[in-house]
Amino acid sequence: MSDEWIKVFESDFYVREMIKVWDEGEKWASWIDEVVNKFKLGKKILDVPCGVGRVAYFLAKRGYDVTGIDISERMIAMAKSNIQNGKFVVGDMRRLNEIVGNEKYDLVINIYNSLGYYTEEDDLKVLESLRNVTKKIVVINLDNRDYIIYNRPNEYYTFIPPYLVYSKVEFEQETSRLKIHRKYYMDNKEVGEISYAQRLYSIHEILALLKKAGLTPIEILSGYSWKKFSIMDPEMTIIATPS
Ligand SMILES: C[S@@+](CC[C@H](N)C(=O)[O-])C[C@H]1O[C@@H](n2cnc3c(N)ncnc32)[C@H](O)[C@@H]1O
Repeated sequence: MSDEWIKVFESDFYVREMIKVWDEGEKWASWIDEVVNKFKLGKKILDVPCGVGRVAYFLAKRGYDVTGIDISERMIAMAKSNIQNGKFVVGDMRRLNEIVGNEKYDLVINIYNSLGYYTEEDDLKVLESLRNVTKKIVVINLDNRDYIIYNRPNEYYTFIPPYLVYSKVEFEQETSRLKIHRKYYMDNKEVGEISYAQRLYSIHEILALLKKAGLTPIEILSGYSWKKFSIMDPEMTIIATPS
């Protein structure tokens, strides 16, 4: 993994962003419950990457047998301390079989725009890896490139406690990567910055990659809902099964 990303994932700034969206984990867990019921799945779920465990926490509360994997030691340490009745392991989502062996899960989730960090070949490896460890269903949730290029402001401020955050965003059309530069402020003083570039996908591109990885889409939805995805929705959620 590139140094750029290690620095980002292990930074307090990034961790705070994940904590800020903790509550949304409950909405995800409730929707995932509906997926499990709809497809008559068992209780064994793999959440990869799991981050701080914001979705795993609410899934465990609902009685699921949850395993979470993340490349960041810091994220996994937080997930372990947040969720006592789950299993959390540091590992690379491109090589899940090396971590879980021949274990298979009823449902494997890869959510909150967790592809596009490395190359397209790496994303293919991730998708193949997700396919290899599922018994039946994989859920992928990504930001929609088409929405972002038309709607994202070039610069904006947000409050990610305890930081005021200034973001400058540029879309590089040749690579389809969103280049983000963030500066963090406390008490009007700049306390740090991070930069990264993440590949974004349009729906047809991610569907082509899923096909290559041996995954067939069953439903293409908008966020954690049952609304059919349409081209200007902010997020795309694909429910897929091994081909
Ligand atoms: C945007 S967060 C999403 C986390 C979680 N899915 C959620 O919804 O909160 C992306 C996560 O991907 C993890 N990550 C990045 N590359 C990874 C890799 N190769 N293997 C496993 N985890 C990875 C990061 O450490 C980070 O926690």
